Amino acid sequence: MNWLNEALFVREMAMKNNDLFGSSLPMIASENILSPLCREMLITDFHGRYAEGTPSNRYYQGCKFFDEVESKAIELAKKLFDCKYADVRPTAGTVANMAVFKAWASPGDKVTVLDTADGAHISYGKWGAAGLRGLELHTYPFDSDTMNIDVDGAIKLIRDVEPKLALFGQSVFLFPTPLKELASVAHEVGAKVVYDAAHVLGLIAGGEFQKPLKEGADVVTGSTHKTLPGPQGGIILADKDREESKDIKYLDWGVFPGVTSSYHLHHVAAKAIAFAEHLAFGREYAIQTIKNAKKLAEELYNNGFDVLGKNHGFTESHQVLFRVGKDKGGEAAKKLEDAGIIANMNMVPGDEHPLHPSGIRLGVQELTRIGMKEDEMQEIAKFFKRILIDGEEPIKVRKDVIEFKKNYRKIHYCFYEGEDAYKYIELLQVHQ
Ligand SMILES: Cc1ncc(COP(=O)(O)O)c(C=O)c1O
Repeated sequence: MNWLNEALFVREMAMKNNDLFGSSLPMIASENILSPLCREMLITDFHGRYAEGTPSNRYYQGCKFFDEVESKAIELAKKLFDCKYADVRPTAGTVANMAVFKAWASPGDKVTVLDTADGAHISYGKWGAAGLRGLELHTYPFDSDTMNIDVDGAIKLIRDVEPKLALFGQSVFLFPTPLKELASVAHEVGAKVVYDAAHVLGLIAGGEFQKPLKEGADVVTGSTHKTLPGPQGGIILADKDREESKDIKYLDWGVFPGVTSSYHLHHVAAKAIAFAEHLAFGREYAIQTIKNAKKLAEELYNNGFDVLGKNHGFTESHQVLFRVGKDKGGEAAKKLEDAGIIANMNMVPGDEHPLHPSGIRLGVQELTRIGMKEDEMQEIAKFFKRILIDGEEPIKVRKDVIEFKKNYRKIHYCFYEGEDAYKYIELLQVHQ
């Protein structure tokens, strides 16, 4: 066996993947691309180092520069989210949720959540982090017309169940959660309010979605790589500091030693840069992202698609959700992929099986970052019609997608704008 060839095979696949995304329309709602400065951090020596603990309070030596980086990341996160506490150590949104479950709940505790079929993330499901912590799940009723929690039903549920935690936030997240009302009822029965902002973190930071910490959430968790275009990772935010509240100290311990040891220092450095870039450009990007999502939804609807949320303006986030026919989500997503549109099949209200859903979920955050605006959304809706309504061969549409994408590879809303977002960075001269 030639092991070098095995290694180079992996490298070749990575290059091909860069080419695939560079010539396609990436529309998975939970993804984004990194700015040049963020990307650079991922190949620094921070990768692979250890820094257990908090800045200046470490179990390992060698952290003096990383301490500066983590302190800066915390400082910038607090500014960006206008809050008193930020923990940048969680290595994923799921890990941030696990830390909160570890800190604020015990096995057997009751929590109220949305059902995954209605848009909740699996970390709130019995097969995910909530189940791992042994939490007892009670699901809110959902209104498929407003595509939101049924407020009266949820209030009744919270009063009846008296949960330890009331969890909010969604993976299908078209409209802001009616949080003020629900948080105040949750607090009345002694529950803590957790808002999972994984999907909408960049919109919140841009000031263009709700403000969960001002609307009653005791803690916000999130991913740093979805609408917030940073490195893969998680974050925890709160509006009290450690000295003010013992609960916050528990959150701290929930992260370490609770659910992390080493926590991906190179990603923390890239998070700090992403926060600085978002402070500079986040508002403009969030505004354009939401405009693009609204326009795409409207155009899909005008082209004959069954777009959800139609009585309420389709969407107020980066996402669009439409039905393609009973159990046909997988088939539709595959046709789109063959044409160079990368999206995912998704459950819609009424679906029962996650592997046979009836919808397609789209996100426009990455398309926005590469410079697309409303006119481009109009063109993209036409591609969808050709593939899924007119039944044109995906391979024919693929040619036009490649041509269309050629003009959109440069990154916007960041420092050193204009770099090629999909270029494979070669560090070695490899001769085969
Ligand atoms: C609402 C929600 N929470 C948490 C997560 C998990 O985030 P991560 O993939 O960073 O673990 C997701 C992922 O898509 C999500 O949609």
